[in-house]
This record gives sequence, structure tokens and C-alpha cells, in this order.
Amino acid sequence: MTKPYTVDELISAKAIAARVEALAKEISTHFADTDKLVVVGLLRGSFIFIADLVRELDLPVEVDFLEASSYGNAMESSREVRILKDLRGEIGGRDVLVVEDIVDTGYTLKHVLEILETRHPRRMEVCALLNKPSRRETDVQAKWVGFDIPDKFVVGYGIDYGQRNRNLPHIGAVRFLE
Ligand code: PRP
Ligand code: MN
Ligand code: MG
Repeated sequence: MTKPYTVDELISAKAIAARVEALAKEISTHFADTDKLVVVGLLRGSFIFIADLVRELDLPVEVDFLEASSYGNAMESSREVRILKDLRGEIGGRDVLVVEDIVDTGYTLKHVLEILETRHPRRMEVCALLNKPSRRETDVQAKWVGFDIPDKFVVGYGIDYGQRNRNLPHIGAVRFLE
């Protein structure tokens, strides 16, 4: 059970779209020489971001997914990352872009990158829509970040609170009602 809350808009759908377009330009330039970029979305949170991002990439891409969970229904990271679904394809010797919705403590991203590194991709970079630097507990960072955000619990555009609100078109902050 969660206490009653409301969601205040933090980043509009329009602002997200503009930023996604700009990120896609930078990523397309960076990987311009690739045969086929493997774009890896971390489920569930990144499903909307990856869908919008890949449609703006001017590159041959393959899309794959890996499911990792550490929050469950809580507002705090459990700091234990469970891998619930692995990639379908091989990434050895390939160019890989990992797409994440948000880097908070960084445990999820760090754990996933460690696993993927053991498969020896040729190049592997990370694009995260949101970054919460004030909460970082690990040394990971994304090469491309959409927005640095303050220490607020955010939802929408793929991100949930207790599995809800992923379908909001904007990013909002959860505010509890007293
Ligand atoms: C959330 C979010 C990131 C991660 C960020 O995933 O989508 O993957 O936590 O937090 P961290 O940097 O502190 O690890 P969650 O575990 O809620 O799973 P979900 O993507 O299925 O919602
Ligand atoms: Mn996630
Ligand atoms: Mg979640």
C-alpha cells in the first residue's frame, strides 16, 4: 500500500522529445562507422526512451533487451540487482549502446555493465535519460545524459512507482499528500 500522492510535472514531453533528438544526433555521429549498433534497453524502465531514441538514430541498429530490477515496489534501491531476462543476441566484438532511463545510486547500471563487459563488446557506451548525481553510491557514469535532476522520486516516460505511472508522457515528481 502506498500513501496518497500526486505527481508534479518536472520535464515536459516536448522538452524530452527535443533532448532525445539532440542525443540521437550525438550518438549517430559517435557510431557513424559502425556496421550495426546493438542498442540494449534495460527493462522495464527504458522501454519508452529506447523506442523514441532508436527512431531518431541515423544508423543501422539492432534492438535487444535485458531486464534488471532492484527497486521492486520500494522507493529505495535494494542495492541488489536481479537479472530477470538476458539479451537474446551476442555482443562479443560488437558496438553496443546501453540505454537506461535513470541512473540513481548506479548499482543497476554498474552490475549490468560488469556482466556485459565479460562478453567483450568492441565498444560499449551508455545513454541515460536522467541522472541523479546527488544519490550516486557507485563509480559508474553514462557517456550521454538527457537531464541531470535533483533528488526527487520521479515517474513517467517509462519510470514507475510501484509499477504505476510508466505511461505518463512527461517526467514528474511524486509528492505525498501530507
Ligand atoms: C530503476 C530504474 C533504473 C534503476 C536506477 O529500475 O529504471 O534501472 O532503478 O536506480 P539505481 O541507479 O539506484 O540502481 P527498477 O529496479 O525500478 O526496475 P524497472 O526498470 O523494471 O522499474
Ligand atoms: Mn530499471
Ligand atoms: Mg522501477
